[in-house]
Amino acid sequence: MDVKEVERLIKISRERPLMPETYIPWQLEPGPEDVFLPEILTSLQGLAIYESLTPAQKLELGRHELVQVIASYAWGECLFCVFMTQHLLTLPPNDVEHQFIIRELIEEFRHQEMFAQAIAKINGKPIKQSGLHKFFGEFSNKYLPADYLFMGSVSVELVTDVYGNYARKAPNIYPVLKKMFDLHNIEEGRHILFTKALLKTYSAKAGYIKRTLYSYVILFNILFVRTMYVKKEIYERIGLENPQLVYKLASKNFKQKFADTCLKDIIEFVDSWKGFNTLTRFAWRWILAAKL
Ligand SMILES: [Fe+2]
Ligand SMILES: [Fe+2]
Repeated sequence: MDVKEVERLIKISRERPLMPETYIPWQLEPGPEDVFLPEILTSLQGLAIYESLTPAQKLELGRHELVQVIASYAWGECLFCVFMTQHLLTLPPNDVEHQFIIRELIEEFRHQEMFAQAIAKINGKPIKQSGLHKFFGEFSNKYLPADYLFMGSVSVELVTDVYGNYARKAPNIYPVLKKMFDLHNIEEGRHILFTKALLKTYSAKAGYIKRTLYSYVILFNILFVRTMYVKKEIYERIGLENPQLVYKLASKNFKQKFADTCLKDIIEFVDSWKGFNTLTRFAWRWILAAKL
C-alpha cells in the first residue's frame, strides 16, 4: 500500500469533513415534480406493467424502493463497521492502515445516521432483510478472513457508487436525496481508493484457488445488493393486483437492468486481478447475467 497516498486521504478526511447536518438541506420538502429514485433504477421500469401505473403509483414505487436501498446501505455499512472495529484491534495505532480505518469508521457511522434521517424525512418504512440475507451477512462477517471481507466491501462500494451516480445526475431528484448521494459519493470514493490499494497486495499474492474464492465472495455480495430491494411487499403497498406475479416479473427485469447499468466497474476490477476463470465465469453469467 502506498503510505503517502493513504496519508493524503486521511488528511482530507480530517480537514474537510462533510457533515450531513449542514451539507444536506434537510428543511426542504419534496417539490411537485421531484422523484425519489430515477426511473431507470426502479424494478418495474421496462415492463409493460410500469406503463399502466398512475403517476402517484410510480412516485410511491420509487419512494419505497429508495428507502429499501438506503436501509440496506445502512445495514451493510453497520456490519462492515463491526468487522472494521475488530480488525482495528489487530493493527498497531501508529500504522497508517489503523489511522485510515478510524477515519472510515467515523464517516461510515455518520452515513448510517444520515441514511436513517433520510428515511425518516420521507416517511419510509423499511422492510427487514430476509432471513437468508441476515444469515449470510452475519455469518460472513464473523468467519471470513479480513481480505475476503475487504473484497466484499469494495465490490458493494463500487456498485453503490454507480447507483449513487445515477441518482445524483437525475434532473428531478429530491434535493435532500441528491445531496445525500453527493456526500456519500465523495467519501466512498476515498474508501474505494484505500481498499483497492490495500487489496492490491492480497490479490498480487493470490493463486488460482484464492482468486476463485475472491471472485465468488464478490459475486455473492453483489447478488446481495441486487436482491435487497425487489420486494413483493412494495407491490402490495402501491396497490398492484397479484404482487407475487409482479415480483417474479420484476426480479427477472431487474436482474437484466442491473447487469446492464451497474456491473461495468466491478467487472473491470475483478478482471484486473484475473478473477474470471473457468470456475467463476459461468456463475457470473448465470447468476448476475454479466456480459463477460
Ligand atoms: Fe458509507
Ligand atoms: Fe465506505
